[in-house]
Amino acid sequence: MCGIVGYVGNRDVVEVLFKGLTNLEYRGYDSAGMALRDEGEIKIFKTLGKLINLKNELENRKSELIHPVCGIGHIRWATHGSPSLVNAHPHTCNCGRLVVVHNGIIENYKELREELIKKGCKFKSQTDTETIAHLVADEYAKAKNLEIAVRNSVKKLQGAYAICVMHKDVPDVIVGARKHAPMLVGIGENENFIASDTPAIIEYTKKTIYLDDNEIAVVTKDSVKITDIDGNLVNKKVEVLPWEPVALSKLGYKHFMLKEIHEQPDVIRNVLNGKLFDIDSPIILNEVKIDKDILKKLNKIEIIACGTSLHAAIVGKYLIEDFAGISVEVEASSEYIYRKTTTDASTLVIGVSQSGETADTITAIKQAREKKSHVLIITNRPDSNMARLADSLIPVNAGIEVSVAATKSYTAQLMSFYLLALHLAEIKGSLDKEYIKNLKHELIQLPTKIEEILSNTSVIQECARKFSSYKNFIYISRGVNLASAYEGALKLKEISYINATGYPAGELKHGPIAMLDETMPVLSILIPGGITYEKVLSNSEEAKARNAKLIALTSSNDKSLDNLFDIVIRIPSVSEILSPVLTCVPLQLLAYYIAEFLGKDVDQPRNLAKSVTVE
Ligand code: F6R
Repeated sequence: MCGIVGYVGNRDVVEVLFKGLTNLEYRGYDSAGMALRDEGEIKIFKTLGKLINLKNELENRKSELIHPVCGIGHIRWATHGSPSLVNAHPHTCNCGRLVVVHNGIIENYKELREELIKKGCKFKSQTDTETIAHLVADEYAKAKNLEIAVRNSVKKLQGAYAICVMHKDVPDVIVGARKHAPMLVGIGENENFIASDTPAIIEYTKKTIYLDDNEIAVVTKDSVKITDIDGNLVNKKVEVLPWEPVALSKLGYKHFMLKEIHEQPDVIRNVLNGKLFDIDSPIILNEVKIDKDILKKLNKIEIIACGTSLHAAIVGKYLIEDFAGISVEVEASSEYIYRKTTTDASTLVIGVSQSGETADTITAIKQAREKKSHVLIITNRPDSNMARLADSLIPVNAGIEVSVAATKSYTAQLMSFYLLALHLAEIKGSLDKEYIKNLKHELIQLPTKIEEILSNTSVIQECARKFSSYKNFIYISRGVNLASAYEGALKLKEISYINATGYPAGELKHGPIAMLDETMPVLSILIPGGITYEKVLSNSEEAKARNAKLIALTSSNDKSLDNLFDIVIRIPSVSEILSPVLTCVPLQLLAYYIAEFLGKDVDQPRNLAKSVTVE
């Protein structure tokens, strides 16, 4: 979603801000802007659309800039008011002396706006953010101190915000504040940074201070002061970012998505590293901070997540119930938060999130915490808000994921669930020891099998070419791969804008079969050796009888499949229970190649954001 970067120091401010915004670009946005403090003036540059437009604007107006030393930049993903120049950030007060950029949503902006209009404020945009600009200016007129003005203003705001403010009369100072939206300060030598996420600053510094809710940061070239909402100084820990700047490079791949798909074998090795040593040793999962005796008696788990993480959660449910015999409920966070759940202190609540910033999941986790449940977070961002709410934290270590469509973080989440389910099974003694050994042996083989899939993608590309002109798809499966059908369909939808639905194969005949004809490809996921293969095969036959085009994704070598299906995508042999880790890969690639053939913006699909920080 929106992104913020601010800088005070001796480097080329425009370059630092532009680089920072570029590194946040993956989050999704529709306009961009900067405010630069230059020779005592505040100069604003804004454009609609991609950052290249802002670059051109800066280039065209470069004669206006003399020597900027401080600035704030923003990319906006429209919430209040359409994507337009007037709604783009930064926003200003009446006189233009104060500028603000903002991530989040101010829920009481209408009331505040009314009050400010009565005081003579003239609003130019439809945004909630402009309210903050007028409000802080109003408070500044009284307090004559920017830090106090920001503090007094944020006390009046309801909702979520990460803001950065500059004032013409307060040279080379950026004041930042946050509540329910991430914000961090980057510490440098004779320079400091402020940003909504680490990629914005990682090229320049790895030393960071994460602001907590209701904290205010006053940042100058050589000082950072952090206070709480009452003005008390807060002593914050300086943390060192775990990522290298190279994580933000495509390394020769055409898109980040393709690079990230190819990173999956190593990501899996990473997840297993230190947790699964060999098939004879128990899984080491020290991250789970629940007493083993409590785990043994645990009889209910709830998993909450959104989107792709929700699909990983569905696989997680299947595994935990199958391996450990513990009952698991899975729910979209956005639904969980609006109903009366039976969550209590004896429930283990697992939150799954790539970004660790998804607003719905954070709200759900907070609700669970209020009910005294132990909260286990599985996330790719151990530095996130969600991670801070965790009693137990499993970082999935997939490395930064830039493409909006989640790929490697999904496989890393799946692997974390395999480890967790086996860990629970080992504690409970619920699985046969030989069976566990076989599973561990196979888990260790998975990266090599994915490498095999990635080494020859010709059938997947042929399938993409053949089917890229179709307008609708149904993906079907049963059992543990039902989530793979949901996830494959979601990948296709989000990056190619083709309507695709994941469906339980057995449900086809209860409605969707009515839609089948030669214009509707049905993609079936069939893994032999388990209980679902024959049934999914029969459901595919039913689709064929209605003239649907058929695609198979299978580990079967049965040649007769080539007669039934129009295209057969084969993956290496794998047991059904572990197969979601393999089946997701060709489905990611199929979506990728279809989007590529259609000329879509693969890494930054329209209307989507990498982390969804509004409910
Ligand atoms: C799909 C995708 C989204 C996210 C969803 C939740 O490719 O990325 O569906 O999975 O927005 O985000 P996280 O996992 O960050 O909570």
